Amino acid sequence: MHSTAYYTLNNIPAGAKLPVSELSTKRSTTATTKTTPAKTTAATTASSKKAPTYAEIEPLLVKNTCTACHAVNKRQVGPAFADIAKRKYSNERIVQLIYNPEPKNWPEHETPMAPMPQVPKTEALKIAAWINSLRIEKAPTP
Ligand code: HEC
Repeated sequence: MHSTAYYTLNNIPAGAKLPVSELSTKRSTTATTKTTPAKTTAATTASSKKAPTYAEIEPLLVKNTCTACHAVNKRQVGPAFADIAKRKYSNERIVQLIYNPEPKNWPEHETPMAPMPQVPKTEALKIAAWINSLRIEKAPTP
C-alpha cells in the first residue's frame, strides 16, 4: 500500500505530464471528427424549408405578446410582419433580432422593440420561418 501511494504522488507532477498528454490527444482527434458537420447542415436546411401556417403561429405570437405591437399586414407599434418579410432576413437573423432588436433598422418607428430573450428558440425559429413565408406567398395587400 505504501509503495503505491509514494509512487503516484511523486511521479505525476514531476515528469509524466508531457509524454502522457501528447500520446492521448493525437489519437483521439484524428479518429472522432467525422460525424458533426453533416448533421448541422441537414438541420438548417430542413428547418428553413417548411413554413408553418398562420394557424400554427398565431398562438405563439399571442403567447409571446408579439401581437401587442405587430400585426400581419398593418403597421402598428412595430412594423407589419409582411414588411419585415420584405427585408429578406434569414430565419436565423430574425431569431437574432427577436433576442436583440436593432431599432436603427426601422427609423420610422419611434418606440424600439425590447429584447425578448424569453421566447424559446424553437418558437422563435417557427415565427421566423412564418415571417419569411409571407414574402414568398406575397401577402394579400389591404
Ligand atoms: C413592445 C412592442 C413590441 C413587441 C412586444 C414585439 N415587437 Fe417586434 N418590433 C417592435 C418595434 C417597435 C420594432 C421596430 C423597431 C425595432 O426593431 O426596435 C420591431 C421590430 C421587429 C422585427 C424586425 C427587426 C429588425 O431589425 O428588422 C422583428 C423580426 C420583430 N419585431 C419580431 C417580433 C416578434 C417575433 C415578437 C414576439 C416574440 C415581437 N417582435 C414583439 C415592437 C415590438
